[in-house]
Amino acid sequence: MKVLEITTAEEAGFCFGVKRAIDMAMEAVQDESDIKVYTLGPIIHNPQVVEKLEELGIRSVEDLSEIDSGVIIIRSHGVEPKTIEQAENKGLTILDATCPYVKKAQKNAQLLMEEGYQTLIYGDQDHPEVKGILGATDYKALIVEDKNDLDEIDLQSKVGIVAQTTKSPASFKELIGLLLNRVKELKIYNTICNTTQVRQSGAENLADDVEIMFVIGGFNSANTNRLAEICSNTGTPTYHIETAEDIEWSWLENINKIGITAGASTPDWLIKEVIQAMSEEKKDLEIEEKEQEEIEELEKKEENDEVIETKE
Ligand code: F3S
Repeated sequence: MKVLEITTAEEAGFCFGVKRAIDMAMEAVQDESDIKVYTLGPIIHNPQVVEKLEELGIRSVEDLSEIDSGVIIIRSHGVEPKTIEQAENKGLTILDATCPYVKKAQKNAQLLMEEGYQTLIYGDQDHPEVKGILGATDYKALIVEDKNDLDEIDLQSKVGIVAQTTKSPASFKELIGLLLNRVKELKIYNTICNTTQVRQSGAENLADDVEIMFVIGGFNSANTNRLAEICSNTGTPTYHIETAEDIEWSWLENINKIGITAGASTPDWLIKEVIQAMSEEKKDLEIEEKEQEEIEELEKKEENDEVIETKE
C-alpha cells in the first residue's frame, strides 16, 4: 500500500508568549465571570481563535473609548505606555499579557535612549509591537524597516539598535554590518525571539525534505506569512492556509511527502484538523504522521545578547 507521509515541524503552533496570553485571557473569564473582559485588538492574529474566545465572552475592542469598565487584556505584542495610562485613568483592570521578550525589547530601547544613543528600531512601522517599542522611547527612536532606510537617516556617532522580536536574524545581521561601517559606536540589543529562529529554521529544513509544504495560520499573521515565504524560497511548493477548508485537494495529487508548520498564533487543534482532513481525503493511502526530529543546530545566540562594537 502507498504511504502518505505527513511531517509536522517540531516547533509549530502557539509560542510561549501567545500561549501565556491565551491562558491569561481564559483565567480572566473564569475568575471574573460577571465582569466584562476585553482584549485591545485581537489577542492574536488568528481569526478562528478570536472567534472561540468571543464565544467565551472575551470581546476584542479596537480602542479604549469603546469601554468604560471591566478587564482589559494587553496582548503579547504589547502597547505604548500611554495606552496603559489611559486604561488606568479609566479605572479599567489591566491584565498585561505582553510577552516578556517584547517587554525586554521595550526596556532595551528605552535604555538606549537614556544612555544617549541615537536609537533605531529594526521593524515594521505599522506593527503594534514596533509601535509599543517606539512608545517606550517616548517616540524619539527611529524605525528602520529596511536597509535602504539607513540612507535617509542622519546617523550620529553613537547609535543603538533593537529589533522587532519576529525579524529575521540574517537581515538584522546584514543591517548591523552596514551600520558598523557608518557609525563610531554601535550598541546592539539582539531582541529577536529565539522561538522565531527555531521555528523558521525548522520550517526551512522540513520544506527541503518534502514535496509540498502547508503553512497554517492567520492570513493577517506576520510570522505565519514569513514562514510561508521562507518555505517557498526553498523551491518547494508552499500553501498558506488558515483552516483545512482552504486546501484544494488537487494540490495533493501524486504527492507522498507533506510537511506542515504553523505560525506562533496557530492553535494545535487547527493543525490537527488539517492532518485529519488530509487523512480522510486520502483514506485509500496509509498515513504516517511524524514529528520533525532533525532540526539543524541554530546559530548559537550570543551568550550575552548585548554587544558593543566600537570603530575608531
Ligand atoms: Fe513572545 Fe516570541 Fe511569541 S516574542 S509572543 S515568544 S514569538
